[in-house]
Amino acid sequence: MANEQNHSGTELCLDAEHFHVDGRLQHIAFIMDGNGRWAKKRGMPREYGHSVGVKTFEKVIRYCGDIGIKVVTVYAFSTENWKRPEVEVKAIMKLFSDYLDIARKKAEENNLHVCFLGDQGIFPENVRNRMQALEQETRKYPLTLNIAVNYGGRDEIVHAVNTLIAEGKTTITEDDISTHLYTSHCPPPDLIVRTGAEQRLSNFLLWQAAYAEFYFCETLWPDMGDAEVRAACADFYGRKRRFGGV
Ligand code: IPE
Ligand code: IPE
Ligand code: MG
Repeated sequence: MANEQNHSGTELCLDAEHFHVDGRLQHIAFIMDGNGRWAKKRGMPREYGHSVGVKTFEKVIRYCGDIGIKVVTVYAFSTENWKRPEVEVKAIMKLFSDYLDIARKKAEENNLHVCFLGDQGIFPENVRNRMQALEQETRKYPLTLNIAVNYGGRDEIVHAVNTLIAEGKTTITEDDISTHLYTSHCPPPDLIVRTGAEQRLSNFLLWQAAYAEFYFCETLWPDMGDAEVRAACADFYGRKRRFGGV
């Protein structure tokens, strides 16, 4: 792949072997969609797609770290996903619990501070404790991995506002909201990637997405790979971000 002259005039190397992002692309968020369809296409139950999806998630996270991305956020389970059949919800929660068992080792290998976005109150105490322990124990690592689970963008804003009310605030600023979101520890996403061909946010990072760039692809999440991540990044570098200016 040739090098590309981006809008700020700096040359970015898109060659697979040398690809590396710069400071303009610090935070990528993924809406990991398409697990169910991927499995159905193979005559398999949807749950199988989710288990392969976890492997893809691990590969993608590692690759993002390798190319210099500082913050990765993944949408793993929404506040609306509880509507799914019980057998599917149970399978996803089992995958999540299994991941918590190995996450510390994975975080160490990949230098990741793991953080959870979403209302943890719904999880059993033992799961909550393991989530909080993981957040604490991985604090020392320089890269951030946010896992959005039981996450909803609207729920997050309501939670932030209720916290501000409890603190005694009667009028609030944008900054008050930003600092009370689950993402208060990191910058907003520069790029939001959605796999699985749908072009919507599905209640993901509603506040934080105000000036994010979007990349939608047909690839179903279990098929997501390094090349598509690079394609999304290359697309990002072809955009002109104006933030309302000229
Ligand atoms: C995304 O894949 C994973 C979760 C929402 C947990 P889906 O399960 O939504 O897969 P499709 O969209 O039905 O193919
Ligand atoms: C969004 O995918 C949620 C996650 C990827 C966790 P959905 O599959 O739930 O979204 P909709 O229902 O197609 O909007
Ligand atoms: Mg879906």
